[in-house]
Order: sequence, then C-alpha cells, then structure tokens
Amino acid sequence: MAERSRYQYLIAELARLDHAYYVQDQPLLPDIEYDKLFRELLEIEAQHPDWVQLDSPSQRVGGNASALFTEVKHYTPMLSLNNALTQDEAQAFDKRCAEGLERDCVEYAVELKFDGLAISLWYEEGVLKKAATRGDGYTGEDVTANVLTIKSIPLRLNTPRPPQFIEVRGEVFMSHHAFKQLNQQAIARGDKTFANPRNAAAGSLRQLDPLVTATRPLSFFSYGVGAVQGWVVPKSHAELMETYMSWGLPVCEYRQVVRGFDGLLAFYDQIGKIRDQLPYDIDGVVYKVNSRTEQDELGFVSRAPRFAVAHKFPAQEALTRLLGIDVQVGRTGAITPVARLEPVVVGGVTVTNATLHNEDEIRRKDVRIGDIVIVRRAGDVIPEVVSVVKEQRSSELTAFVMPSQCPICGSHIERPVDEAIARCTGGLFCQAQRKQALLHFAQRKAMDIEGLGDKLVDQLVDQQIIKTPADLYRLGFMSLVQLERMGEKSAQNLLASIEKSKKTTLARFIFALGIRHVGETTGKDLAQHFQSIDALITASYEQLLEVKDVGPTVAQSIIEFMAESHNREVIEALMASGIECQVDKKQIVDAVAGKTFVLTGTLPTLSREQAKDMLEKAGAKVAGSVSAKTDYVVAGADAGSKLEKAEQLGIEVIDELTLLALVGR
Ligand code: IVH
Repeated sequence: MAERSRYQYLIAELARLDHAYYVQDQPLLPDIEYDKLFRELLEIEAQHPDWVQLDSPSQRVGGNASALFTEVKHYTPMLSLNNALTQDEAQAFDKRCAEGLERDCVEYAVELKFDGLAISLWYEEGVLKKAATRGDGYTGEDVTANVLTIKSIPLRLNTPRPPQFIEVRGEVFMSHHAFKQLNQQAIARGDKTFANPRNAAAGSLRQLDPLVTATRPLSFFSYGVGAVQGWVVPKSHAELMETYMSWGLPVCEYRQVVRGFDGLLAFYDQIGKIRDQLPYDIDGVVYKVNSRTEQDELGFVSRAPRFAVAHKFPAQEALTRLLGIDVQVGRTGAITPVARLEPVVVGGVTVTNATLHNEDEIRRKDVRIGDIVIVRRAGDVIPEVVSVVKEQRSSELTAFVMPSQCPICGSHIERPVDEAIARCTGGLFCQAQRKQALLHFAQRKAMDIEGLGDKLVDQLVDQQIIKTPADLYRLGFMSLVQLERMGEKSAQNLLASIEKSKKTTLARFIFALGIRHVGETTGKDLAQHFQSIDALITASYEQLLEVKDVGPTVAQSIIEFMAESHNREVIEALMASGIECQVDKKQIVDAVAGKTFVLTGTLPTLSREQAKDMLEKAGAKVAGSVSAKTDYVVAGADAGSKLEKAEQLGIEVIDELTLLALVGR
C-alpha cells in the first residue's frame, strides 16, 4: 500500500513540477532530479500495470493514437468572433453593447487574440479525457493523443472540487522560438519548412504520430468555457480566468478589466507597442463584456457573440511585386538571396527587402522576378517572402538562377552537395566577407572594440585601408580623421579602444577569429583545453576531438581554417602587434594528472559540471562509462550501474571529500 501512495504522490509531484516549469517558467528541480522521479514512476507502472492512471505523466506520449481525427461533437458550439478592423468599428461595438445593456459605460475583460488553433478540452471529474479541434464549430476532430504531449496542459485540474464535466476552451499555438527550431531541423533534414508558426502548430496537431508531435513544442492558453455540469461558472470572465489559473490551466498574463471605449483603446495601443516583442504571434486583441449575465443579455447573432469582438492589428503579411533578387555575402561566405520588393507597408513598417533564405527555398516556392508575392514580417525577425500568388503570374516568367560567381569579389560560388547554403570561395579576399569578419572580430563578445561599426568598416575596407583584423592594430590617426563622419575626438577614442582590446582572454581571441562553427562557448572550451594559441594552431584532428563538446564538424572546420596560410599569417600579425591573451591556467595536480575518472550519482556539493571542470583543469580525464581503463569512480548519492560495474572490476571508488583531497582543495 505504501507503494501505491508513493505512486500517487509521484503523479501529483510531477504535475506540480510540470506546472512550475511549463506554465510559470520557474523550474523547481534540476532536470536530472526530475528524471529520477519520472523513472521511479515508470518502474512502479511496469510492475503494476493495473495501477496506471489517466493523469499519469507517462500517458502524455503513447496515449491512444487510434482515436486520432475521429469526429467529436461539441456539447456547446465553438463560435467565432466578429472582427473590428478599424477604430470606428471597435467604437461601434462598444456603442452596441452600451445600448443593448442600457448602460453608459460597459465593463470589459480584454485579452490577446492568439494566432493559433481553437481547441476544446474535456475534463471529467477534473481529469483530462478528450481534446478536440474546432472543426466547423459543431463537430471537430479528436486530437487527444497529440494534445496530451503539450506539457503545460494539466492532466488533472488542481482543485479538490472539480466540475463533474467542463469544456475548457483555448488556443494551441507555437512560439517563435519553437517555430524557428522546427524549421531549422526541417532544413537540416532537407524537409519542407512551415510558412509560419500557425501552420506549424496546425501541422503538429494533425500529426498522425503523437511521438512526433511530442518533439514539436506547442503552447496553450485558456480563454473560454463551453458546456459545464456540476459547477457554477463564476460571475465574470475575469473571475473565470482566475479560477482557471488556480486550477493550473495556462492563462495569458496580458489581460485586464477596463471600462468604456477609452479603456479598450488604451489596451489596444499598449499591446500594439509590445506586439513585436511577444514570443508568439497575435493578430489583435479581444474585448469581452466581463459580466456573464450581461453576456447572456446580449446573446448571439448567427454564429458570433454580440458580447465580444476581435480588434485586429494591421496584418503582418502583405502583397507586393518582386522587382529583383540580389545576393548577399555573409561572414563565412554564405550567399543569401534577398528579394528586392516594391515598397509595401507590413504591420506598420515599410518593407523593401525580404530574405529568400536559399536557392532550394526559391525553387520550392517557385519564386520568379516579376511575381506578386506574400511578404511576412513577425517580431524582430527579418521580413521573408512566404509564397507566390500564382494566379497573378501574368506571362511566363523565367526561373531565378543562382550566380556562379560572387557579386562582390568575382570568386567562384560553391555549394557542397549535401548543404543548402552556397558559399563564396573568396575567403578574406572577398570584401564582403572581410567586412563581416572585421565586425565579428570587433563585437562586444569578441575583442570588444567600441566604436567600430558597420559604416566605418565599410569605409575602411572600401578604401583598402584595412584588409584583415591585424591591420586594425596598425591604424594611424591620420588615416582615420580623413574618413567621413570622423572627428578628431572619435578617431582618438577609436584608437584608444583598439589599444585597450589588446588585453583580452584567449577564449575571446579564439572566438574573434571567426572560425566556422566556433562560437563563444566553443571558444572557451578550446582556450581551456589548449591554453595557448600556438597549441590550437598545431592541434591535430584527434587532439581537437578530445575537447569537450567538439565533434567532427567543429574539428574539421578548425583544421581547415588553420591550414590556410593567410589565416595563420593574420594570427601571427595579431600576436606581433602586442595582443596578450590571458588564460584560465590549468593547475596540473600530479595525483590526478593523466588519470581517468568516472562520475556517478549526485555529489553533496559539486555539480557534475563543476567536478568535471575541476578534474580537467588538474590534468585528469573524465569519461562517461566505466571500463578497465578507469582509475577512479567518484560516487555520490543514488549512484547506479556505474558503481556496480566499478565494484565488479575492482576499481577504486571514492567520494567527494576524497576527490577534493586528491586535487588539493
Ligand atoms: S473567444 C465565442 N478569445 O479567434 C467566442 N477567441 O474568431 C469564442 N482566438 O476560433 C472565442 N484568441 O481560435 C477568444 N482570447 C481569445 C482568442 C480567441 C484567439 C481565436 C479562436 C477563435 C477565433 C475567433
């Protein structure tokens, strides 16, 4: 019996942790502790299959997929909202409500209009039983198995007295972050990408395999209620949302109770200002009469409520003509086709250029110069061409052909067979790459040269004053002051910050070199491992693979970079100009140097990462599994199979205290 109650405790505890992580964005436990509890739950379920409850987190994947897409009749229809496209229309809505209710000033609950898919969740006695799409409003499709994978949706409502039955209504959507990741993965696999987060969310909900849906993080916000049994719905919409929150349902924080048209408009303006910074798409705000009695009084016209309206923002998509396609060259030579557009206002901003991503995307979308295209701008991302309006293609337009030579330096453009990106082979001979390389070198996270912006770099490179980062350290006052928009003071300041940048860390310096695939973190790992730039220059492929998190792609890229004589020359010139790279020194400790350690279980004070770093700095190796080559196994609480293996092989097992003593701490 004790085990049974442990099982129920685990379900409740995991639900509490999920809610903190996915709804409140405040993780309560490190992942590894969470995983432990989850594994314990799975073990109990394996031993007692008859105990498995519907609200167990194990049911989130592998639920009943056979019911997917069967018809579901909504108990209360899922209606749509009327739109207000202008301020006048929004004002007319307020006027109608005020007149209908015979009041001077109406109270509204206002919230965001999420750009996703409406969904109805059926909770019976507080347990999630079914999830259905809106469909035609009366009949939708069963998407339970897919919705169960959305971790922010509670499997059981957190209340001792749940309704016997309730249809919770809300929106499923995909965040910008998840959308970007999904599309990047699709590109890497050579699959089709989704045009926008809404399509991606729809595609994920319509997935036949819930295991695939589980890899596509979807989000959910509740905003309404359908049929209810055995429960009294709160008196106002705002109170309903508060109740949902207390039950553990996700409710968006951007909501208010306001009065009259002024209140509505203030909310519209306020949200309009932050729209671009939201991590998900919205296409407007929604105004709902707050009081439920007043909602009932106003009722419905045909299929939309009279008590609510969606006040739309200007569209983030617009139609315009594609005038031409230019190609841009990035720091590593990546060639990006850019659409030149007839100027068009998208979501309040005039757009004249939009990215076309790469050659395959142009072909997939069949974009041709002269076409009418749909341009989209969302959040802070670069505007993109979403698709072509084929019906409006006037005559036979010719397909775009990627240039075979770099438009900047004339070098050959190459595209490796298994890559989507074409590259200019000019390297630092190419002025475009030179400029990007300099900007990368000077950025805050790299050498941190204040005042070296793109306008200045353009001039310095165009006038052939500098070619490589090493030339920066030879810049004189005279060559700077003669530049446009450069006074004496700013020339002096720039020279001072160039001088200051000479004192740096090895990690920053390595990152600043702009080696493909070597970001800030890899820069740190390489610095830690090699301790000097010379050691990195001469490192072999195998030696590079020994560095934490360095795999074949990164290792190969470093080898190729260092094999180029002009890259080595630039590094030499940089060092000769007096750059000093500080290194976080390795403190070789004889007792552990060259020995192999394996870490297992939870140590009392050190995290696994800290223990590993400490050992590596002392010259030891840290391996992932126990073998005859292992010298020590460091075991903490709940050590598992690695400890058993160590005992079998007769390898010395030590605890954290002994480890600290060994490294002399
Ligand atoms: S309430 C009876 N609130 O907009 C009113 N809908 O055209 C039912 N939507 O199908 C909807 N955000 O998918 C409501 N805060 C919000 C919403 C919202 C987005 C969607 C929903 C619905 C459509 C209505």
